[in-house]
Amino acid sequence: MATATAKPEAKIRKVNFKFEKPFPKHWYNDNPIATHFMNAQHLAFPDGEKFFIRSVKAFADVYKNDPELKKRVDNFIGQEGTHYAEHQKFWDIMESQDLQPMKFVDVFRKTAWNGLETWARKTLTKNQFGNKIALSVTVALEHYTAMLAESGILNKDITEKMPQEMKDLFMWHAAEEIEHKAIPFDVLKKVDDSYALRVGGMAIATWGLWFYLGLGTVMLTAQDKDVKAKDIPKDLFMFLSKFRETFGGTLASQYFQYFRKDFHPDQIDNYHLAEELLAGKNYA
Ligand SMILES: [Fe+2]
Ligand SMILES: [Fe+2]
Repeated sequence: MATATAKPEAKIRKVNFKFEKPFPKHWYNDNPIATHFMNAQHLAFPDGEKFFIRSVKAFADVYKNDPELKKRVDNFIGQEGTHYAEHQKFWDIMESQDLQPMKFVDVFRKTAWNGLETWARKTLTKNQFGNKIALSVTVALEHYTAMLAESGILNKDITEKMPQEMKDLFMWHAAEEIEHKAIPFDVLKKVDDSYALRVGGMAIATWGLWFYLGLGTVMLTAQDKDVKAKDIPKDLFMFLSKFRETFGGTLASQYFQYFRKDFHPDQIDNYHLAEELLAGKNYA
């Protein structure tokens, strides 16, 4: 299956999103649970993206003599580095809203990175197995971010009620996730083409993504003094039904494509969505 749109360059753009204080506390659809799910992404992305960068860099020896792949990896690292810096800016706004974002970040760091990742890299050293698993988890999470990005771009009602600066941040991030979706995949192919390794990474990624986003949502909701217990079932129902309606279609149709033996991210034709979204934006 060939892609209909040429692969764009994953350009590193200079951006500087600014969030004004006071920022509406329940900024997403006036729904605290939906907002804290998005806030959990602001908290999870920075450390997650640092992990992606470590994971490809661990195999620098494999791509350093391939100038084209090296250039693409450098762009991938540059894009992810900009993403985590921009999302991390929102942590300060959350503090100003009487939330304690660092409580989640501490748990996330202790368990996922200082715990699981460090253990795997230090213990599973034979044939660099720990490093290979970390890269395959990265590749799987990039499949997720590209799917979420496509849904976010296509379903305009996801972002239509967001404050403009937040919408701009998520849309820019979404476009770049699509631009670079194939880069870690191509590194993994070169490192180890094992099908079992690739789908094993997807199992860990699927658990990790939903577990930590769920945990972040629960922790922030519990910290939020403006959440009324009696409204939680209604807000949760609204959030889940909207999520199913807007993200469900793409996730259902693209998730399982990853399990095809000959899968490559380029087979999902969405590069044009990134190009269209970024066209006319004056990011340097
Ligand atoms: Fe990113
Ligand atoms: Fe990414």
